Amino acid sequence: MRAIRIHQYGGPEVLAQVEMQRPTPGPNEVLIKVKAASVNPIDWKLRAGHMKDVFPLTFPTTLGLDVSGTIEEVGPGAARFKRGDEVYVSLEAGSGGGYAEYVVAKETIVAEKPSTLDHVQAASVPVVGLTAWQALFEVAQLRADQKVLIHAAAGGVGIFAVQFAKAKGAYVIGTASSRNQAFLGDLGVDKAIDYQKTRFEDVVHDADVVLDTIGGDTQERSFKALKKGGVLVSIVQPPSQELAAKYGVRALFYGSHPSSSDLTEIARLIDSGNVKTVVETVLPLAEARRAHKLSESGHARGKIVLKAA
Ligand SMILES: NC(=O)c1ccc[n+]([C@@H]2O[C@H](COP(=O)([O-])OP(=O)(O)OC[C@H]3O[C@@H](n4cnc5c(N)ncnc54)[C@H](OP(=O)(O)O)[C@@H]3O)[C@@H](O)[C@H]2O)c1
Repeated sequence: MRAIRIHQYGGPEVLAQVEMQRPTPGPNEVLIKVKAASVNPIDWKLRAGHMKDVFPLTFPTTLGLDVSGTIEEVGPGAARFKRGDEVYVSLEAGSGGGYAEYVVAKETIVAEKPSTLDHVQAASVPVVGLTAWQALFEVAQLRADQKVLIHAAAGGVGIFAVQFAKAKGAYVIGTASSRNQAFLGDLGVDKAIDYQKTRFEDVVHDADVVLDTIGGDTQERSFKALKKGGVLVSIVQPPSQELAAKYGVRALFYGSHPSSSDLTEIARLIDSGNVKTVVETVLPLAEARRAHKLSESGHARGKIVLKAA
């Protein structure tokens, strides 16, 4: 089968297309014929070696956590799916393997893909959908009567976070650059903030929840946007506990985890028409280098997807 592999840490040029043996599903695993795999910032952070203390890679390795495709084969004891089922999955960060024509996954993390999406669209959902879902509802426990500030609302995670929070009934404030202000309106935010023109902490002081997808200075300033007793959830770096104490809020770092049941719930919301995905760019698998460069620009609107078949 074809796969895009890396043999060392480095820039996009270390991504290379190779021919390799098709994997075989072990006990309680399924073999998925990949139709599409999406690119997430973690892919290029892993490639560049930025995450080697948390997720050290063993070379050669195949990157890619988000996959949509069909079940090709089931391993011993795997009973949830049968050949031909259309599925999507967020693979485990340490294993990956999605930039390939076939990938093996534990059956417990796989879910039926949303029936209203094609495979390119479905592949764009798992990591960002799960992250937004778990950060807002498992960690921050966002309620309908609350106000949430979502940074990078036009990015992969932000697009889902805005729509999930709106579907819950919350009041949603999103940040993006000037070019994305109308886009945020279309997504359904109650208030869009242009971070190039306005310091968000000058206009938001009473958020119950902040979802930090940026870190650094944006994270520090986010404390001022929270009301006392509020919660800051960062998906990029552990927030300062000194600042949390100073402002009387909770502040946590959160790393999402694969979950078949959460993916099923997300598929239900998508199929009900309440949540949509936004795919900005579709490229063939062979153009993974270009896809990484686009993602590394930090200004993708929605998702970049690699088509395997
Ligand atoms: N912990 C976890 O489990 C987890 C899971 C998923 C992602 N992440 C991390 O979360 C981050 C976001 O992921 P993603 O997939 O959403 O990334 P992404 O799609 O690449 O985000 C791109 C978006 O960021 C926006 N942006 C850039 N600078 C901004 C700023 N200063 N203020 C507001 N918006 C800004 C851009 O909007 P403009 O073009 O308008 O600037 C663009 O739409 C990444 O660092 C990723 O690694 C963590």
